[in-house]
Amino acid sequence: MTDIRKYYEERGQGHVFAHYHHLTDHQKKELEGQAAQIDLDEISALVSTLIRASGTAHSSLTGELAPADYIPMPGHCETADPGLWKEATKRGEAALRTGRVAAFTVAGGQGTRLGFDGPKGTYGVTPVLKKSLFQVFAEKILAATRIYGRPVPWYIMTSILNHEDTVAFFESNDFFGLSRDRVHFFTQGLMPAVDADGKILMADRDQIALSPDGHGGALRALVRSGSIRQMEADGIDTISYFQVDNPLVRCIDPTFIGFHLMNQSDLSSKMVPKAYPEEKVGVFCQQDGKALVVEYSDLPESLSTERDEAGELRFRSGSIAIHVFNRELVSRLGSGNEEGAGLPFHLAHKKVPFIDEAGVRHEPGSPNGYKFEMFVFDALPFARNPVIIETAREDDFSPVKNAEGIDSAQTCRDDQLRQFVRWARAAGIEIQSDESGLPPFAFEISPLFADTAARFRHAWDALPHKPQLTEGLVLV
Ligand code: UTP
Repeated sequence: MTDIRKYYEERGQGHVFAHYHHLTDHQKKELEGQAAQIDLDEISALVSTLIRASGTAHSSLTGELAPADYIPMPGHCETADPGLWKEATKRGEAALRTGRVAAFTVAGGQGTRLGFDGPKGTYGVTPVLKKSLFQVFAEKILAATRIYGRPVPWYIMTSILNHEDTVAFFESNDFFGLSRDRVHFFTQGLMPAVDADGKILMADRDQIALSPDGHGGALRALVRSGSIRQMEADGIDTISYFQVDNPLVRCIDPTFIGFHLMNQSDLSSKMVPKAYPEEKVGVFCQQDGKALVVEYSDLPESLSTERDEAGELRFRSGSIAIHVFNRELVSRLGSGNEEGAGLPFHLAHKKVPFIDEAGVRHEPGSPNGYKFEMFVFDALPFARNPVIIETAREDDFSPVKNAEGIDSAQTCRDDQLRQFVRWARAAGIEIQSDESGLPPFAFEISPLFADTAARFRHAWDALPHKPQLTEGLVLV
C-alpha cells in the first residue's frame, strides 16, 4: 500500500481510495496527487470545531461590538476634512510614482450564482462593447501605469478549476496591452468537502470533491506561490486588493493608498454607508479594541437596526471587499506565523454531488456536505492601524453576482452608464437621463480615455472635435 493510502487509512479516510484498484495508472496518480495536497490533521480539527461544535474556528463574537471608526468623505459628511483627503491623494500619487504598488484580483471563485460557463473575469459587462471584467481592470491598470510613469504589476489569483481558461483568455487578447511579464497568475488552495461525519466526499472514483478555499485563501496562496517573494524582489510593499466581479472599482486609487501609507496601516478598507439595515453586506465593527467585519447574518437585529441621534444607522459601515494590504501582513498571515495560525475557516452547508463506496452516484436535493472557506476580511483583527475610509458606492461598487435582479449584469451596466452621465455633466455636457441618472441610450467611456470625472473633463476638453453623445458611442 502506498504511503498516502496508509496515511488516509490511519486517519479514517481510507474510503477515498475505495475504487483505487479499478483505476488506470494515470487515474491512480491523479488521485494520489489530490490526496497529497490535503492536510488531514487540518480537516479533522475543522470537523471537530466547526461541524461538531458548530462555530467558526478561533473567532467568535464574544465581546461587545461597537461600530468601527472610519474617515468620512468630503461632500458626504460635514465633519470630513477635504485637506486631509488632498494630502492622502498626494501621498498615494507619490507612492505610485515610485512603483511600490501592485494590483491584486481574486478570481478563483466558482461564480455559481451568475451561472456563466467560463471564468467570471471573462464575462462581458460594459454597456456597448461588452468588454470583459478582466479587460476593464487591465485598462484601468494600464491607465495608472501611464499616469504615474511606473508599471503597476497585476497579480491574479485563479483556482485550478479556471486557471488554464483564464491564462488562455489573456493570451488570446494579447494581455489587453499590458506587458505580459507584469501579469502574474497563481492558483489558490483547494479544500475537500466532507459529510456530516467528517468523511471526505468523492466527486468521482478518482476525484475528491474539492473546491477553492475562499478569497481568504489568497493570503496563503500569495505566499505559497512565491508571489510575495517576487513582490519583495521588485520593491512592492503595497497591494491593492479587489474582487473580479466589480468593474466599477478604482483598481488603483491614489487617495486610498495614501491614507493607508499615511497611517502606516497593515490593512485598509473602503466602506459605504449601508443602504438599509437588512442589506446583505458585512459590517465593520470593533471588538476588544480590534477592527473586524461581522457578516450580515451574524449581526444581531438589535444592532443592525439601531440608529444614532442623527437618525443614521449606528452600524452603518458596509464592507465592499476593497482593501489595501501591506505586504508584510500578507507574509505573516499567509505563512501561518500569527498566533493561532492564519485566518479562520468558515463552514458552508451545500449540495455536493458525490459517489459512494459502492460506486453509486448521488445528486442531493438538499445540502449534504460541508465546504470550508476563509474570508479575506478576517485579516482585519490582525492588522496594525487598520484604516477604513468612506467611498461613494456609485463610484466604486457595482458587483455582478447574479444572473438577474440585484447585483446582476443589468444593474451593473446601468451603474456604469450613470457614472458616465455624471462625468459628462461634470464636464459641462448636456445629456438627458431619467430620475435615477440613467440615459436613454447606451454609450461607453474607456478607462484609457478617462478613469475619473476630473480626467474625463480634461480629456474631453482636449478633444478637437467633440462627438455627439449618442447610442453606441465609445470614447477610447
Ligand atoms: P463570491 O463570494 O461572490 O463567490 O466571491 P463566487 O465563488 O465568485 O460566486 P458564487 O458565490 O459561487 O456565486 C467574491 C470574490 O472572491 C473570489 C471570487 O472570484 C470573487 O472575486 N473568490 C471567492 C476566490 O478568489 N476564491 C474563492 O474560493 C472564493
